[in-house]
Amino acid sequence: MNTSATLKAEIKRRVKWSLIGAVARLPDSVQTLLFVSSVRKYGKRVPILRVVYSGCYRTHPIDRTLGTDTGGIYPPESVTGTNGPENGNLPYMGCQPSIVRHALSQLGDVSGRTFIDIGCGKGRPMIVATEFPFDAVLGYDIAAPLVDIANRNAEIVARRFPGRTAMRAFVDDATRMPLPSKDIVAFFFNPFGAELMAIMRQKFEAALADHTIERLTIVYIYPTCAHVYDQSPMLARQASFNTPYAPSEIGYGPDLQQEVIIWNDARHAPACH
Ligand SMILES: C[S@@+](CC[C@H](N)C(=O)[O-])C[C@H]1O[C@@H](n2cnc3c(N)ncnc32)[C@H](O)[C@@H]1O
Repeated sequence: MNTSATLKAEIKRRVKWSLIGAVARLPDSVQTLLFVSSVRKYGKRVPILRVVYSGCYRTHPIDRTLGTDTGGIYPPESVTGTNGPENGNLPYMGCQPSIVRHALSQLGDVSGRTFIDIGCGKGRPMIVATEFPFDAVLGYDIAAPLVDIANRNAEIVARRFPGRTAMRAFVDDATRMPLPSKDIVAFFFNPFGAELMAIMRQKFEAALADHTIERLTIVYIYPTCAHVYDQSPMLARQASFNTPYAPSEIGYGPDLQQEVIIWNDARHAPACH
């Protein structure tokens, strides 16, 4: 692209995201009104409103219940200034708690294990992970403002559920961070493309080979780069399924169901079904 085309694209992108920001600040009552079916029918045709119909700007039921903030859509460059899609990093959008809950309930006893959300954003899956007896619940994201929000959410969850394992988020590039434990459940909700996912795979394989990790489970929601893990001789699929959103979450995300794939390291792989 030449300089003037690049500048035009940059201006267009900035205008688009400031308009989206304006829509995002509309009060919840207005957002709810936009979802009334007669309004929605016409609203969906207005280009700038289309993103509203992802459902991500409404106050999600989990936030309404807990008082947390896990909503919105943030392209990484809008919160980091760099690290945009040209580097393979994808935007923040929270996944549905019901899907995470269902996926984690497939893992059997998770006590002694460490949950890590690779690209944790505001920490919605970490909140769900605190419902399970993990030894630690950690998240990593390149976007510092999102990590700050995740840690504020962590304080809210800790006050509300003092008996649960505390969750904690860190600013880091997932492809460079050290792995924090020997027994890991690595969670992904579409944080980046195949190139960075291949780096993650190499990192996991090296850690399994030199026993920095003894046990690994990968839970991947919206698995656009599933082939990367399928090609690993050190991993085997445990399960692959489509899970519907809980009825209370319909309209709070762009889909109605979500694909989930789970892999285990070959030493701990039960048969795929
Ligand atoms: C689709 S969001 C998922 C957020 C959260 N896991 C969830 O499910 O609610 C993807 C997140 O990955 C983060 N991300 C993208 N590239 C990353 C990288 N290289 N290292 C760490 N985080 C990254 C983005 O900032 C964004 O918050």
